[in-house]
Amino acid sequence: MSMTDDNQLQKIIAHAKEYGFIFQSSEIYDGLSAVYDYGPYGSELKKNIRDYWWKSMTQMHNNIVGIDAAIFMQPTTWKASGHLANFSDPLIDNKDSKKRYRVDHLIEQFAEKLEKNNEHEEARTLLHEMEELLKQDDFDGLKTLIEKNKITCPISGTANWTPIRQFNLMFSTQLGSVSDEANEIYLRPETAQGIFVNFLNVQKSARMKIPFGIAQTGKAFRNEIVARQFIFRMREFEQMEMQFFIQPGTQKEWYEYWKKERLQWHLSLGIEATKYRFHDHVKLAHYADAAVDIEYDFPFGFKEVEGIHSRTDFDLSNHQKFSNKKLTYFDPELNKHYIPYVIETSIGLDRMCLLILSHSYEEEILKKEDDSVDTRTVMHIPPFIAPIKLAILPLTKKDGLPEIARDIFDTCKQEFRCFYEEKDTIGKRYRRQDAIGTPFCITIDHQSKEDQMVTLRYRDSMKQERIPISSITQIIQNYLRV
Ligand code: GAP
Repeated sequence: MSMTDDNQLQKIIAHAKEYGFIFQSSEIYDGLSAVYDYGPYGSELKKNIRDYWWKSMTQMHNNIVGIDAAIFMQPTTWKASGHLANFSDPLIDNKDSKKRYRVDHLIEQFAEKLEKNNEHEEARTLLHEMEELLKQDDFDGLKTLIEKNKITCPISGTANWTPIRQFNLMFSTQLGSVSDEANEIYLRPETAQGIFVNFLNVQKSARMKIPFGIAQTGKAFRNEIVARQFIFRMREFEQMEMQFFIQPGTQKEWYEYWKKERLQWHLSLGIEATKYRFHDHVKLAHYADAAVDIEYDFPFGFKEVEGIHSRTDFDLSNHQKFSNKKLTYFDPELNKHYIPYVIETSIGLDRMCLLILSHSYEEEILKKEDDSVDTRTVMHIPPFIAPIKLAILPLTKKDGLPEIARDIFDTCKQEFRCFYEEKDTIGKRYRRQDAIGTPFCITIDHQSKEDQMVTLRYRDSMKQERIPISSITQIIQNYLRV
């Protein structure tokens, strides 16, 4: 990450705190690493993104239904899913600094340095070698690669490394009051398993026919060793996942379908296509036969925001085996029973919030009429997911203007999230709304009393126009349509 990129991220973090989007968890106790809380505007933004995803998955697809499964699951779930045996990262410790690193992150960081020094070929070769070794779980080879490239610890500056070890990312806790191994349960590291174990319940109760999907949003937990980049990599985070159950043999076409469909969802937020790219997985997760990331160009470079995975029948077959319960589907068209294959779409809600904050944040230089310059910090959040849609601002606190404004507030609040404020100059109030990303403000002035018109001010262009009070709701609603 270059200085400017880091500055940009630091500005976004500071802005997110100052304007009530995101706070460090338990900040008064100096925080908890890689755990964050959402403030008044952050929680609205998060909810709006979640709702938009939920609507586009369920309401817009006749063959996708939602569920809300528990975070705790019977621990055999995690044996069957392969998470107990396989959900781990290769880690290495520096003996001098006592710092622990994910091996791929350490090597990638070094490759970024090579890129910055214009050693492009060397960086490419290094990453290629790393990917090949990761694919084979060749930890001795990876250690040799680190040594051969003289990769040092960013803290101690030494290459005094331990051997590479696997580290399981699941958090465990005890169920009930007796602390023994039999009572050990896990905080789910993905929401997907709650969908798999409910596959037949949902299929039967909602009378679903293949192909069909089950969607879910909810918290997931991972004991990330290197938690970095604000809400990009957290230990407690939220996922929005959908498992699409299909006939075996049709996985390639459905994989392509969901790749396209999901990218389209991102673009429907009004974000430029050049900010996105696909990245095929080289090292596949233990359950996948194909996988691709949708990456976004964050201030620290292109990074994964969503994964599309072809999970075969891995999960259902294993749950069938471990539970001794039949998880087959009878396909009336083929007149046979089979275990469906699955295409999964899995997106991080917190990463989507960071994506929207990164996309939206701008420090705009404004040229004034007298040629002097001013700056404003504005969040160009897509209007339909903005925390507040409309700010209602009487020009003064007197002369009957607040009464008109309150009436407008009471009408509009039924339709979308509004904000009422009468303190400070109108310029200051506009700036505060720009900073939280409110796309529209209306101002009620003395003329409003005469002509029943108000001034509508647009966040992005700062243009203003007079509109009738009676048509405010309709005009704003038109802008909020996706
Ligand atoms: N069920 C499949 C699955 O969990 P994943 O690629 O490990 O796949 C899916 O995670 C998405 O969850 C990622 O694309 C990312 O957006 C989000 N995610 C994963 N780990 C995260 C973390 N530590 N913090 C925030 N988001 C995370």
